[in-house]
Amino acid sequence: MRKESTLLLSSIGQLLTLRSASGKHGPRRGPELKQLSIIEDGAVLCLGGKIVSVGTTKDALRDPWLKKNRKKVLEIDCAGKVVLPGFVDSHTHPVFVSPRLVDFEKRIEGASYEEIAKAGGGIRVSLEGVRKAGKRILVEKVLAALRDMAAHGTTTVEAKSGYGLTVESELKSLEAIREAGSLWAGTVVATLLGAHVVPKEFQGRSQNYVESVCKEMIPKAARRKLAQFVDVFCDDGAFTAAETEQIFEAAAQHGLSVRAHMGQLSEAVLRPFLRFDPASFDHMDYVNDDDILQLSKHDTVATLVPGANYFLGLKKYPPARKLIDAGVPVALATDYNPGTSPTLSMPMAMSLACTHMKMSPAETITASTINGAWALRLADRKGTIEAGKDADLAVFAVADYREIAYWFGDNRCAMTVMNGTVASEP
Ligand code: NIG
Ligand code: FE
Repeated sequence: MRKESTLLLSSIGQLLTLRSASGKHGPRRGPELKQLSIIEDGAVLCLGGKIVSVGTTKDALRDPWLKKNRKKVLEIDCAGKVVLPGFVDSHTHPVFVSPRLVDFEKRIEGASYEEIAKAGGGIRVSLEGVRKAGKRILVEKVLAALRDMAAHGTTTVEAKSGYGLTVESELKSLEAIREAGSLWAGTVVATLLGAHVVPKEFQGRSQNYVESVCKEMIPKAARRKLAQFVDVFCDDGAFTAAETEQIFEAAAQHGLSVRAHMGQLSEAVLRPFLRFDPASFDHMDYVNDDDILQLSKHDTVATLVPGANYFLGLKKYPPARKLIDAGVPVALATDYNPGTSPTLSMPMAMSLACTHMKMSPAETITASTINGAWALRLADRKGTIEAGKDADLAVFAVADYREIAYWFGDNRCAMTVMNGTVASEP
């Protein structure tokens, strides 16, 4: 890993800047998702971790400052490759110890995710490993995931707790996220998902568990600045709408923003939650027309995670076309987790979005960069290649950006730059 104060990427075949063509503020909607603002034979100059200029290679090489300081600059000849903003993976669950292979086999034999969870499998199986693990192990697990994500082009990651579900192990998970993030050159945003499911020891007493989330986990995480967001799995077998509201109230009282898993297994009514100004509703397999209309008027992002549908072997995917065509801002994320989506590849999520949700390759790029940044409230720093933004770049060894989603199951990412640091080189 190299920290270079000045970095020039030149001879970029297609430089996808994602600069807004309309100049409008806000997450990208409808036809805006297709606008990538591409510069051919492009160049990007970065200084002190920020992007300072973006244009053609010819113009960059004519720059008087660059001519004078050329020796101090690390120049990377991209030789016609594609460069785009580093992916913003706005939904991941990296704090777990083991894969859930028994669940995997049971599903292959015909059991559904819900049936496995009811029979004692599912999320609850992952709790033991995290509760028992020392923090060091968890830091190692998260850091390994972050490094692998960077190797696939991701430079900003939202990371949730949610496999401890005791006050102590949720805080330990958030600490592990913080420590791993401090050892990684990219940017990590932490989310408290204490409300993932009701753990066994609280079975039949979900209200007591919700109280522990609201009165202990949230205040402690907020006081120690361990999380920026609070998430709730609001669905059958997890938390009800009333419990979700209660948790959102507690988050708001403690100055934390909210996001939620919504409509993964059954339809939720989203409208009442909009007063909390959620950054994102995630999954959205089941969503009603009134809520689609509401979301088209709000900046709450619909984050779609097709990796979960793929891995659960579902035929149905979230209605991306309907959402996009109605003007709802859509993001894509991996949902990296051991139960429903053990992938950390954003290109894989993009490929699934193309083939199963009929998003165009261009739409998947916008959904994985600037709209992911909106879903994390980081759009002022991340998600486009523009002067003043963080130097977060992904270089793909392809000649055309559409190949990123096309070569599925393969990693064509050649290099990432995270906050100005060259993380992985060809
Ligand atoms: O996003 N739905 C809730 N959480 C995860 C699954 C967690 C698990 O099964 O371990 C998801 O799909
Ligand atoms: Fe999730």
